[in-house]
Amino acid sequence: MELENIQLSADEKKVIIIDQTQLPNRLVYLELDELEDCYQAIKKLQIRGAPAIGIFAGYSMYVLSQKYADLPYEQFLDKFRKQKEYLYASRPTAVNLGWALKRVEKVVLDNKDLPVSEIVTLIGREAKAIHQEDIEMCLKICEYGLTLLKDGDGVLTHCNTGPLATSRGTAIGPLLLGAKRGYKFHVFADETRPLLQGARLTTFELMNGGVDVTLICDNMASLVMKNGWVNICLVGCDRIAANGDFANKIGTSGVAILAKHYGIPVYSLGPTSTIDMDCPDGDHIKIELRDPEEIRTMWYREPMAPEGCDCYNPSFDVTDHSLITGFVTEKGIVYPPFRENFEKLFRE
Ligand code: MRU
Repeated sequence: MELENIQLSADEKKVIIIDQTQLPNRLVYLELDELEDCYQAIKKLQIRGAPAIGIFAGYSMYVLSQKYADLPYEQFLDKFRKQKEYLYASRPTAVNLGWALKRVEKVVLDNKDLPVSEIVTLIGREAKAIHQEDIEMCLKICEYGLTLLKDGDGVLTHCNTGPLATSRGTAIGPLLLGAKRGYKFHVFADETRPLLQGARLTTFELMNGGVDVTLICDNMASLVMKNGWVNICLVGCDRIAANGDFANKIGTSGVAILAKHYGIPVYSLGPTSTIDMDCPDGDHIKIELRDPEEIRTMWYREPMAPEGCDCYNPSFDVTDHSLITGFVTEKGIVYPPFRENFEKLFRE
């Protein structure tokens, strides 16, 4: 079963997504064309994963801007910017959201002499290009990632980085691609507390793709590594700083620290659009803090903490560049020294 996580409706007036909060129990599609619904879809993680959020944001701006295409340019630009800023405020950590929004805004600014209706058509073209480029980038990342793997490998992954989080998958993309080519891997999927992207989404995607997967709680990663069952760790990334520190789902840095202890290589896979050369290091990455109820009560039949119990719920953590073996991008695999090699990558 191939699932398309983000699409435009046939008349291009709505953006259609799979509601990821309903998986794996229900496959529900949402058709969105209101600013608040698009904002909430990102905020509530109905659409999630750094690249998918970027693709969705581009389409959202296209769908929304069609509704005021009859305004004069200055008024159109003002409304476009307000909506863009609002969507941008939905989640702060992943670079792809701001990156995609800036791309569609540039179309509006660069074409101010055209009729607004034509500008809107160009916004749609840019949004489709962002999506198409992500598909192509994912396919390349999958190919490069597969070169790191051999038949029979044990792999540990964290959170969800498959076609639901991107267009075709990044960190688990090579596993899905390898399975199609007859490789047999054994994957340990961290459940990824508190929102359980690993349990709900990664197992769903890997089982769907014919990859052997075992679900573990996050605190079991050390034991499976100690047992010698993990040859490599593959994780995603939400923002990579210029020095190679990178933000990814909370718990990733713990995986990397454990892997270093056990001598297991760790690769982070993501498009070069995730590399933020304006961000010098991990200390400059803004970390999203989420609702304490995700820890206190969500998923439980009754609260699992005393009422009013203080909670700290960061959605991401930063893995130090010294813990990562390399970054797999659509332009190839980047090894340390990262700053120098990222610069080289962008010069090529
Ligand atoms: O909070 P989420 O589910 O959006 O977090 C997702 C991750 O951390 C992914 O690893 C990252 O976005 C890369 S997706 C290919």
